[in-house]
Amino acid sequence: MIFRTARSEARTVETGAGGGGAGGSVPRHVAIIMDGNGRWAKARGLPRAAGHRQGAEAARKVLRAAGEAGVECLTLYAFSSENWRRPAEEIGDLMGLLRLYIANELDSLHKEGVRIKIIGDYKAFQPDIVKLLEASVAKTAGNTRMTLAVALNYGGRSELVRAARGLAERAAAGELAPEAIDEAALDSALDTADLPPLDLLIRTSGEYRLSNFLLWQSAYAELLFVDTLWPDFDGDALRAAIADYSGRERRFGGR
Ligand code: FPP
Repeated sequence: MIFRTARSEARTVETGAGGGGAGGSVPRHVAIIMDGNGRWAKARGLPRAAGHRQGAEAARKVLRAAGEAGVECLTLYAFSSENWRRPAEEIGDLMGLLRLYIANELDSLHKEGVRIKIIGDYKAFQPDIVKLLEASVAKTAGNTRMTLAVALNYGGRSELVRAARGLAERAAAGELAPEAIDEAALDSALDTADLPPLDLLIRTSGEYRLSNFLLWQSAYAELLFVDTLWPDFDGDALRAAIADYSGRERRFGGR
């Protein structure tokens, strides 16, 4: 574990034990816990919705920078399964923003070769949003330049439960021998089955928690915690995060 001085820009915790190396490479798969929209708005005397709007703008910039840097997959935690506990008005604002984001961005994402993928139990959303999401996924399914995975009504534990249940159902139906349930089988039953292994997980706003995000997938990911509030995170911040990752040494438990 590496914990830099309190004054440094980013505090880093390595899950592997040093050695080996990210070898100056670009992470194939970056995931972000986009935190701090509310504090960003509060600091400006604005409603929380304004923070979320600026957060959606940050997501747009960061996606572009990730594509330019050669990141294959960017996964964004846009709505957690715990976010239903927020006031109805804020949930409504977030849903409105999601509709707007799809309406404004879908065509340009498609033109730029971005495949959209949804992880999480998104079918719990309102029917019009489910339809919009499924149409976006279908329209962009053949794109290969990069993948944008949006986590919606996502929780790592519930993803693991759904995966375990799916495997159990196949075992009960005689399609899968219980002894065939290994790490690879569980991995391939997760929402992220077709994504590259997670290399770098970033959380903004100075909080040091995973908050139920990509629990299985982060086993050997590099973790980066930055103080920047999400609406202020941009292409330069992503490039700095990638540079930090490139300087890390990864051993995946080896020597
Ligand atoms: C956390 O900030 C952020 C969220 C719960 C929502 C994230 C959503 C967006 C960035 C906008 C939508 C994005 C897309 C891709 C459509 P917070 O409200 O918990 O902030 P706080 O901790 O400062 O209160």
